[in-house]
Amino acid sequence: MDPYIPAKLSVRNINWEKLAILLGETNTEIGRYDGLLDGMPNPEILLSPLLRKEAELSSKIEGTQSTMSEVLEYEADENITDDRKIEEINVLQNYRKTLRWAEDELRNEREFSLSFLKEMHNMLMRNSRWDSSAHPGDFRIKQVFIGEKGASIEQAIYIPPEHFLILEYMENWEDYLRNSREERLIKTAVIHAQLEIIHPFDDGNGRIGRMLITLFLYLSGVLHRPMFYMSQYLENNRTCYYESLRNISQNNQWQEWIEFFLTAVKEQTKNNIKKVKEINELYEHKSEKFKEATKSRYYKDALDTFFKRPIINSVVFAKKSKIESQNTARNILKRLESSGLVKKIRTGKGQSPSIYLFADIINLLE
Ligand SMILES: Nc1ncnc2c1ncn2[C@@H]1O[C@H](COP(=O)(O)OP(=O)(O)O)[C@@H](O)[C@H]1O
Ligand SMILES: [Mg+2]
Repeated sequence: MDPYIPAKLSVRNINWEKLAILLGETNTEIGRYDGLLDGMPNPEILLSPLLRKEAELSSKIEGTQSTMSEVLEYEADENITDDRKIEEINVLQNYRKTLRWAEDELRNEREFSLSFLKEMHNMLMRNSRWDSSAHPGDFRIKQVFIGEKGASIEQAIYIPPEHFLILEYMENWEDYLRNSREERLIKTAVIHAQLEIIHPFDDGNGRIGRMLITLFLYLSGVLHRPMFYMSQYLENNRTCYYESLRNISQNNQWQEWIEFFLTAVKEQTKNNIKKVKEINELYEHKSEKFKEATKSRYYKDALDTFFKRPIINSVVFAKKSKIESQNTARNILKRLESSGLVKKIRTGKGQSPSIYLFADIINLLE
């Protein structure tokens, strides 16, 4: 197989008639989702568990086994010493950090550019087990390929363009992203796929490409907040996801890819709507319970902290919840525990503080 020579954007010959119904339905769903987010007073807090889950699922597509709960356990107890585990946990932490950072930058009017994309890659790949080989923050300077685990290049499923063509193709991609007046969801589909086809980085292309879905939906005004997570659908339908990408280079099947992508967005949006509603309800419900149990004016701070960190040690809890005195924080935790709202999963001893679990939010996402 030779390296693929992609066509430049934009995509020609899209059959609009065939897409019209699906496109309409997807836009309706995502509009509902956006409305739901708009009505939320504190989406950063409420959706923070969804972002954790996204980091897990998007990295799982990549092959990382670690889970959101493992990251939380690690953040609550940094005594974990298993190096392999820590590396995988770093992958998830980097993912979350990168997406958060990118969202903030764009919210603060940063323009999208290739150097911005490279900065994202740098943040994602730094301090990981791939650090040295993955050239964090740079386009690749060697050939890579997509294949079964352990396969050689002769057995490749897909070989992207040679490295000296990357800049030319990425400039075309950037120009399309910034200037094309294509329908926004179709444009998102094309941006994701063409990035994967160019495969500009040694590694991390899939994850960067999935982050871009969220970022571009925000950038183009489909969403008013950069919070939309779709790796669950892509992970559940990974075979179809990979095959649809493969069919673009093998058979020029852009139409099928766009259909797959729109279906993915539509289905995942329905799922996200359901999840966000459940999270909202849980928050409302627990808000009352936390108030009753703690009888403290800090009850909301306590609840918010458990939403952001459903597994947490008492020291971090006091710090993150901004409850002034350690004593008050400890009292609140004690009351929450005796009311059964949180569970103590480790009793503090010497230098190691107690660790608490707020299981409801984790259960909701599993
Ligand atoms: N046939 C294909 N053509 C183009 N891109 C593909 C193909 N199959 C899979 N991909 C994309 O390549 C990604 C894997 O590339 P990689 O650089 O290892 O990214 P990551 O390390 O984030 O998974 C997949 O997640 C998918 O998005
Ligand atoms: Mg990879």
